[in-house]
Amino acid sequence: MEKESRLLRVGVLGCGPIAQFAHFDACRKARNAELYAICDLADDLRTRMAAIHQPRAVYADFAQMLADPNVDAVIIAVADQYHVPLSIQAIRAGKPVLVEKPLGATVEECAELAALVHQSGLVFQVGTNRRFDPGVAFAQRFIQDEIGGLIALKAWYCDSTYRYTMTDNLQPIPIQSQQARRPGGNPKADRQRYLMLTHGSHLVDTARYLGGALIAVRARLVHQYESFCWFIETEFENGALGHLELTIPVRGDFEEGFRIYGEFGSINGRVYLPWYHKASEVECFSTKDRQYHRPLGEDSYTYKLQIESFADAILHGKPQAGADVDDGYAAMRAMAAIARSVDSGERVLLSEVTGGV
Ligand SMILES: NC(=O)c1ccc[n+]([C@@H]2O[C@H](COP(=O)([O-])OP(=O)(O)OC[C@H]3O[C@@H](n4cnc5c(N)ncnc54)[C@H](O)[C@@H]3O)[C@@H](O)[C@H]2O)c1
Repeated sequence: MEKESRLLRVGVLGCGPIAQFAHFDACRKARNAELYAICDLADDLRTRMAAIHQPRAVYADFAQMLADPNVDAVIIAVADQYHVPLSIQAIRAGKPVLVEKPLGATVEECAELAALVHQSGLVFQVGTNRRFDPGVAFAQRFIQDEIGGLIALKAWYCDSTYRYTMTDNLQPIPIQSQQARRPGGNPKADRQRYLMLTHGSHLVDTARYLGGALIAVRARLVHQYESFCWFIETEFENGALGHLELTIPVRGDFEEGFRIYGEFGSINGRVYLPWYHKASEVECFSTKDRQYHRPLGEDSYTYKLQIESFADAILHGKPQAGADVDDGYAAMRAMAAIARSVDSGERVLLSEVTGGV
């Protein structure tokens, strides 16, 4: 892989699984970035990761990494509950941020962060990496350029019981540490909340990326046979109807996809488990030429592409292609609205929702 002459010197906070599976490698492979620094307060993990990835600087303390003038930007790859406070710390230190999804854990903290980011004028991106899947990006452009107004959008995300049978073969063996910092009280124990934040954040972001802003939801949830299944009716600002499904786990294959009906065309999309680095298959039909259009042969390493886009925005002022702070905030509102609607059985407006998921 060839590097450009000007590289974004990235500092990665967190040496946990997502940094090991994606960010360290992606920074090293990105055409316009370098893995300049890593940071984790777990000594054993930090030392091992430094030996493998050879960053130029290694920090135990995030404040010290932020104080390094050679760090151009940071990736925040820590537990969800820390995203907002650590993003605020980074923005206050003047560093652009790429934070893992979801943006945060409550509507209020995300609002505070969004206000600060706007004030700062710094580039801020959320790691909903599906936007960098070339099939999904092609579908998004096709919606903008070809199919006119939207009538309806359906999107689904069904995680497989056999997910780890697949991903264990695709990812390196993660290195764990007893010293790793995690929020108290095990956030994964509230499974309903955890699944929505972890997986629902991708589903909601894809729906918004393709369908536009959401204004209201009505959601139902069933929890049976150790599976959670949400059926969510959505209303888009542009008048389109939506239906989102999140089911975890399904006793079958991983299935993620979307179906979109527009004024002058329609789209069927099948998204693969991201760790295969295989572009979504999208079939985009246009009434203008009465043809199906489908891309092939694009680089599909979404985790690398999102860093390259982040670096292009910072180094060259290119428009941000990833989810920005407003997208992350809107997704948080949508997930909180889904939770309120599950509790009440009522339609919930995103503009009126407060609290967490
Ligand atoms: N985009 C994706 O496909 C994807 C996939 C998996 C996970 N994620 C997201 O990535 C995030 C991280 O997941 P993970 O499983 O790697 O987390 P993790 O909690 O296992 O690891 C985080 C690491 O950060 C360190 N850390 C936390 N706070 C710190 C601080 N203040 N200073 C220094 N070090 C600190 C911890 O010691 C730990 O080693 C989550 O938000 C998750 O939702 C995204």
